[in-house]
Amino acid sequence: MTDPLVETRGLTKHFPVESGLLNRLLSRETKHVRAVDGVDMAIQRGETVGLVGESGCGKSTFGETILGLVEPTAGEVWYGGERIDDVSPSRLRELRKEIQVIFQDPGASLNPRRRVRDIVRRPLDVHGIGDSRSARNARVEQLIERVGLSTDQLDRFPHEFSGGQQQRVAIARALAVEPDFIVADEPTSALDVSVQAQILNLLDDLQDDFDLTFLFITHDLSVVRYFCDRVAVMYLGEIMERGTTAEIFEKYQHPYTDALLEAIPSTELAARGNRAVLEGDVPSPIDPPSGCKFRTRCPIADEDCAEPIDDRVFSESQLVHCRKRSPEEHGSDATPISGE
Ligand SMILES: Nc1ncnc2c1ncn2[C@@H]1O[C@H](COP(=O)(O)OP(=O)(O)O)[C@@H](O)[C@H]1O
Ligand SMILES: [Mg+2]
Repeated sequence: MTDPLVETRGLTKHFPVESGLLNRLLSRETKHVRAVDGVDMAIQRGETVGLVGESGCGKSTFGETILGLVEPTAGEVWYGGERIDDVSPSRLRELRKEIQVIFQDPGASLNPRRRVRDIVRRPLDVHGIGDSRSARNARVEQLIERVGLSTDQLDRFPHEFSGGQQQRVAIARALAVEPDFIVADEPTSALDVSVQAQILNLLDDLQDDFDLTFLFITHDLSVVRYFCDRVAVMYLGEIMERGTTAEIFEKYQHPYTDALLEAIPSTELAARGNRAVLEGDVPSPIDPPSGCKFRTRCPIADEDCAEPIDDRVFSESQLVHCRKRSPEEHGSDATPISGE
């Protein structure tokens, strides 16, 4: 395999929790929210990797750490062979030309007082792309048509658009600087189901045209199925299982992956019967369970699961963070848990 475009090594972000006066008087140690806890990930050029997990499991923090919006507590971020978790502000600005982001809520990410033309042109102005203002305006017109809007919509304000159209504007703005890598953080989660598919199709088309690499963050496993090449399943800041999309949907091994699949309301998957429904709440990321963090909600956990675990290798692409699943016993062609 070639060198990855994006790589994280042991990436960790612990947010200190404001301690109350009493705790300070008693000089108790500061507690931390362990939002991201030692994540290794490699994304190849041209690939789309899905990062999936329940709300609050650390997906956005992971993405923000790669984007340089959040400073990691430990670990490294590499981009195109350069370590970028500790670069100067000026280098970070340059990297903004290569690494872009699309957020969940396009309404909130677009300046309400600016016309769409200015919103999409702004990154070109900021980075000094294009020879003249008219060249930049021409580029804005191309972009807006490429995302499925028309040039006579350029003089409107964001509030005059539907959610799906606003997301198209946000996508045009992200594309303006011709980035190589885009972090898309729940880009379709705020949209109607029918519009979600349109936006996913658009991103898929753009990926080919613009040679894009994506980290696609979502709480909804069903969304990644047709859009991602590989999927990483996150729980309380750690990756529980990773594999190709086919492995995650058809040969998954981790009970948490099973539970997330079970939550997808599709006739095909429902036919497997309700087996691994998630019970209880996610434990606090301030004081997560020892060993396997999922063990307190896991249907197959036993006392051994409180001990530290390593990832188990099921195939070149599939890694499983679970003591109860071993490649010798279950093999890479093993039937999934629900088939047992
Ligand atoms: N700036 C912050 N300060 C303190 N805690 C934070 C901050 N940002 C996120 N968190 C906490 O980190 C955990 C992970 O959050 P987040 O990355 O937003 O998860 P997700 O995107 O998967 O929903 C949550 O417990 C959240 O409350
Ligand atoms: Mg999030």
